[in-house]
Amino acid sequence: MKSARNLTPEPVRGKQGMTVPKLKVEIREAKPSDARKLTAYIADVFATADHLITRPEEYTRGSFKQRLWISKKLTNPVETCLVALSDGNIIGMIDSWTDRRKRVAHATCFAMSVSESHRQQGIGRALLKEFISWIKAHPSLSRLELHVHSDNYGAIKLYTSMGFELEGVRKSAVRYEDGRVVDDHIMALWP
Ligand SMILES: CC(C)(COP(=O)(O)OP(=O)(O)OC[C@H]1O[C@@H](n2cnc3c(N)ncnc32)[C@H](O)[C@@H]1OP(=O)(O)O)[C@@H](O)C(=O)NCCC(=O)NCCS
Repeated sequence: MKSARNLTPEPVRGKQGMTVPKLKVEIREAKPSDARKLTAYIADVFATADHLITRPEEYTRGSFKQRLWISKKLTNPVETCLVALSDGNIIGMIDSWTDRRKRVAHATCFAMSVSESHRQQGIGRALLKEFISWIKAHPSLSRLELHVHSDNYGAIKLYTSMGFELEGVRKSAVRYEDGRVVDDHIMALWP
């Protein structure tokens, strides 16, 4: 395993300002043995998150392929999949991918999520901090980029607070089922 760390996310607070018990959260790279849980976690996120492109029925990676996918991340020196766990359950993840062509090999792209019942408790920020530490430990990677829908205000607030800057807008790139059209924001950080 390339990295593992136990973290207590900060700040600890709940939706609508409710107090929530301090969660013990472990953040580490995904292991092949996480495959089944990760598949279930991702399916749940696609079913519950409003601002992602993939719809639940479009996510077809089963546990066997998930195991292979995790193994490839573990052996790829410039990509990772970090998971946040509480009581042995996956409650968040970040995965990154990097184009190996030399002219763009310094830039890495990532996506992240936290399970619906654990959002706004500092877990997303803790995951992102851990991911940025991982990037800093990989000197060939100097540019971190992401795509976020322009109406994903919570995510944009998190990224902006971590120093990401808006670099570009793909106008009307996303169309929701109810007909609403939003922009795709490209944000980047040079950690
Ligand atoms: C975006 C996401 C990963 C954030 O994770 P999280 O654990 O809820 O975020 P945190 O609790 O660490 O919040 C960090 C900061 O983000 C902002 N934030 C996060 N969610 C917010 C919300 N719903 N409304 C307003 N601000 C929000 C706040 O500024 C917060 O900082 P603060 O606590 O100091 O005020 C999570 O909401 C999620 O999984 N959403 C669904 C999937 C998704 O949209 N992923 C991003 C795709 S680009």
